[in-house]
Amino acid sequence: MSPLFADKDKSALMLQAPEVFTTERLILRRPRLADAEAIFEYASDPKVIHYMDYRPRTDVSEVLKFLESRPAEWESGSFSWVLTVKPDDRPIGTISCWVEDRAAGFGYLLNQKYWGQGYATEAACAVVEWAINLPEIHRVWATCDTENLASVKVLEKSGLVCEGRLRCYQIRPNISTIPRDAFMYAKVRDAS
Ligand SMILES: CC(C)(COP(=O)(O)OP(=O)(O)OC[C@H]1O[C@@H](n2cnc3c(N)ncnc32)[C@H](O)[C@@H]1OP(=O)(O)O)[C@@H](O)C(=O)NCCC(=O)NCCS
Repeated sequence: MSPLFADKDKSALMLQAPEVFTTERLILRRPRLADAEAIFEYASDPKVIHYMDYRPRTDVSEVLKFLESRPAEWESGSFSWVLTVKPDDRPIGTISCWVEDRAAGFGYLLNQKYWGQGYATEAACAVVEWAINLPEIHRVWATCDTENLASVKVLEKSGLVCEGRLRCYQIRPNISTIPRDAFMYAKVRDAS
């Protein structure tokens, strides 16, 4: 199904990811340069970026730079899709997934106009289901700040289990200069 090969030099797994996921209400597709304005709308929103490990974007050119880097990132196993609500093609959020050492990490963010309607869970379920069913992937994981309760909910509703608290794990520059605790959530294949 997915043409896969081991890069012996880096011991990295390279796999082909779907260009598109279709769920009940969403289409997840690869981002385009033309999406910059729509992505900037949420990437510049302090409320959306609050728990991220970067500051809100202040200029659309930063989003364009991010978008320009996507094709090369995709080739190296770091995938991003924008979420669009059918039949509209305008992005309302982004979900990313990166593969390393037989594990896939993922993260997501959504324009706050669309919060609370189950869209993040719907997107996360699609990506988690794809990743965990790849024979080469044994673990799908995500971390979130221990106070990010909406994200905790999304991860639990997507079938991940909390494995513990990572103490002083990551600086969230919008909150503090001191590293903050995070939860590690994962779904594993062949769990006994
Ligand atoms: C996290 C985020 C993607 C969730 O998106 P969403 O589409 O609203 O998520 P869903 O609707 O699928 O699920 C959210 C759940 O959290 C719940 N929730 C939302 N805010 C909450 C809060 N402050 N406390 C407790 N639960 C909360 C909702 O009620 C919902 O649960 P329910 O389905 O049982 O009612 C969105 O809030 C976001 O973009 N946040 C900023 C970026 C971010 O933090 N990303 C995650 C980084 S790890």
